Amino acid sequence: MKLSITINKSLLFLSLFIVSTLPARDAWDWKNIDTSTVVFDTNKMLFGVALAEYQNSGATNLPNSNWAHWEKQPGAIENGQTSGVACDFWHLYKTDINLMKDLGCNSCRLSIDWSAIEPQEGKFDESAVQHYHDVIDSMLAKGITPMVTLHHFVHPQWFEAMGAFEKQENLKFFVRFCVFVFSKFSSKVHLWCPINESGPLAFQSYIIGHFPPTLGYTHLGFKFSFGTAGQVLGNLMKAHVLVYNALKQMPNGDKAQIGFNHQYLNFEGYNVWDKPIATVFRYTFNTVILEFLKTGIFRYDAYGFKATRIIYKDILSCIDFIGLNYYSEVIIRGGDARCYDHEVMTDMQYAIYAEGFYAAIKDLSQFKKPIYITENGIGDAKDDRRETFIKRYLYAMSRAMHDFNADIKGYYYWSLMDNFEWEHGRLHKFGLYEVNFDTLTRTLRPGAACIKQFFKPLPA
Ligand code: GCO
Repeated sequence: MKLSITINKSLLFLSLFIVSTLPARDAWDWKNIDTSTVVFDTNKMLFGVALAEYQNSGATNLPNSNWAHWEKQPGAIENGQTSGVACDFWHLYKTDINLMKDLGCNSCRLSIDWSAIEPQEGKFDESAVQHYHDVIDSMLAKGITPMVTLHHFVHPQWFEAMGAFEKQENLKFFVRFCVFVFSKFSSKVHLWCPINESGPLAFQSYIIGHFPPTLGYTHLGFKFSFGTAGQVLGNLMKAHVLVYNALKQMPNGDKAQIGFNHQYLNFEGYNVWDKPIATVFRYTFNTVILEFLKTGIFRYDAYGFKATRIIYKDILSCIDFIGLNYYSEVIIRGGDARCYDHEVMTDMQYAIYAEGFYAAIKDLSQFKKPIYITENGIGDAKDDRRETFIKRYLYAMSRAMHDFNADIKGYYYWSLMDNFEWEHGRLHKFGLYEVNFDTLTRTLRPGAACIKQFFKPLPA
């Protein structure tokens, strides 16, 4: 997810009143760190790639999704692109599973798309169910353990039309879909992520205006949009609890590990005057979720909208693992997202910052739950920073496991291949494999090859 940070004047004005006490950013001496010695026990951990159906199969394969409707609007996607078939994982999944195997993956995080399974309200498509059986069976046949996400930013258009997660009374539809999928796949899938990144989903959709249903910043409607985002975020938290409890009561519920996924996105201010804004973003994107994990209470206070909602006091009893999506930490500098002078930017608005990955793992370890790194990767079209990124971040992860026994059960690189990066279309290149979108051929990037050394099965 890329944050487009154009600071609204009123936001700036309000933010300047907030006192900030941000610590200085930690920096390791990379010149004296040998990342080549890092080895993981791949017999005990899962290593693989993370995918999301819409990003890999596009509107052509998922015509009943909200994104298929939304992305057609002028201005929705950069350069006027549309997703089309994306990289057509829907049809090429066998090829792609072989590519995973070539990398040494023993797991894959994929999403089962709600709009494919339930294209019309209450009508479940058995051919889509069969399709996902084929995909999952093909993975299992290659020794690849699936982790399934049930909502990765996309839902059916009929659900959007009824107000989606804005309304608490709509949650039952999402729960029904999750129960349906679980009833079909729980004998072969044991790792589940109900919702991908509830924070970015709410904010991209209702404040930043890069995701459906809102197009563009709602400058004049701050109060309304922050309020709706808050309402949606609270409802997504509630949805997690409802889904968790429903699935746990089903056959195979006792075998299932159901995680809470969070994009740990921290912000820092470069100059003293940047710090208040960083504090606001940090609170809105990160702290609010961490507080929820600590207390089960959703406390949200933004621009005239205030909410304190008890979601579920014993929230950690509804979380079997934490799914950490980590990319970087954003530096706000002069109202824009940049990096420090000695750092290397990725193609997104943030730097390579493995120290932040280590810190995020440490912070999330306070919850004493197993952690899966459910996403970590770099947008790097030139492929001149990918190898550094992979080596540094995997070093940081091994250091966390060594320094404070971080209970990391698995790592998923984002992503197997270039795909449809939401509002940026095909602009950003996160793939280990480069995709030629005319021919759909996949080619391993030189900078990605080093990941094999970490994924390599060790002798048992
Ligand atoms: C997110 C998503 C992915 C993105 C990835 C790269 O974090 O926005 O889970 O869908 O593609 O993060 O930006």
